[in-house]
Amino acid sequence: MTIKHSQLSRRKFLGAIAAGTVFGVSGLVYGQAGRRGLPVPPQAISADSLARDEDFWREVAGYYDRTEGIVNLEHGYWGKMAHPVQNAFIEATKMVNAQNSFYARKSYDEDARLSVHRVAQALGVHDDEIVITRNATEAIHNLIRQYQGLGPNDAVLYADLDYPSFKDTMRWLEQAYGAGSVEVEIPQRATQSEILKRYIDTFDANPNLKLMLITHVSNQHGLVVPVAEIASQAKSRGIDVICDSAQSWGLLDFKVSDLNVDWAGFNLHKWIGSPIGVGALYMKRGSLNKIAPYPGESDPENSHASTRVHMATSNFASILTIPDAIDFHESIGGQNKESRLRYLRQLWTDEAESMSHIELLGGSDEESWTGMGSFRLQARNSVADARELQQRLENDFGIFTVIRVGLASGSCVRITPQVFTSPDEISKLVDAMKKLV
Ligand SMILES: Cc1ncc(COP(=O)(O)O)c(C=O)c1O
Repeated sequence: MTIKHSQLSRRKFLGAIAAGTVFGVSGLVYGQAGRRGLPVPPQAISADSLARDEDFWREVAGYYDRTEGIVNLEHGYWGKMAHPVQNAFIEATKMVNAQNSFYARKSYDEDARLSVHRVAQALGVHDDEIVITRNATEAIHNLIRQYQGLGPNDAVLYADLDYPSFKDTMRWLEQAYGAGSVEVEIPQRATQSEILKRYIDTFDANPNLKLMLITHVSNQHGLVVPVAEIASQAKSRGIDVICDSAQSWGLLDFKVSDLNVDWAGFNLHKWIGSPIGVGALYMKRGSLNKIAPYPGESDPENSHASTRVHMATSNFASILTIPDAIDFHESIGGQNKESRLRYLRQLWTDEAESMSHIELLGGSDEESWTGMGSFRLQARNSVADARELQQRLENDFGIFTVIRVGLASGSCVRITPQVFTSPDEISKLVDAMKKLV
């Protein structure tokens, strides 16, 4: 007899309903039983107004355990699971552990297909265009390393604001294929049109560009790059585009079609709030011929995106929890979440604009900002300066942040609230910044 995860879960779920306790394990179960226990935003209120509704966001915060002992403003690393997601993950972990290979070998693939389906639905693409990965790095590294067709006369492009490991991998293409590499520098504060112009100027100055990496939201300062416009300019010049959406999905509310790219890497363990160990690779139908299968895999028809990743044994329970994470994310609403995070950022960046001892980094117009931002003390841009600033915030003011290194303009400290961060916590940051003179 084949025991399916969903059947097991359903049995447990029915038992739990009778006991009035636990939630179910998979999205399928939620789907069958209704979306109980999830936040419900008030009806007929705009995302901008809801962003200021402290009652609602206090209710949302109640779904999360707090970091004790510090004001944590470093939520760009990974997202915290809300209680219903954590419960589902714990249940899935128990089930996988109990059923072991009997489950994994016989039933896991079918359940994992549901997770793929939910990711594809949420991103607005076909199921066969999505491959689950362990993180965005796995997706983007494979795209870069398995890109075919570079030669010594070609060049590749990346930006100073790209993710450091991906810049290294782009530079590795020099050694692998003798291709040249070009780095475009984006100003430390920029508007959408200024960023676009920087890219267009770089395309014009480098007619041998064949491949580019573009980051939707920079890990350095949360700057939004106008991917769709830049990709359209790139494509018209025959430049292939790999898009890093590791930090953007869930921080911003969008679909893949808004990006206008054929290949992208995503994380679910940041702003979608899944357990750690879940990313996704997007490859548009018909675009597979330029990205080789993972070494040793075969796909003569170039029709199976799954052959571009070799994931091997991984955290089954994390992947089974994807539908629950997406359910929770969607119950708040992508646009509501984006607006709240932008509002929390504005609470400190609006104040910082008038502090002459502070340099803000990131957007110059609201479209270029997200909920994430960075700053440093005026003209103090070395790594040591940023480290000292991070330490002062932590030791003198009880505020946890992270330094970022890699921008052409120098190092900084990144501030990243989450949906459970309160305006009071942001006030503490503003008070601290005033005293940093
Ligand atoms: C822009 C960007 N790209 C890539 C990554 C890598 O994400 P992961 O370590 O989950 O693969 C991050 C992580 O912070 C990021 O911010």
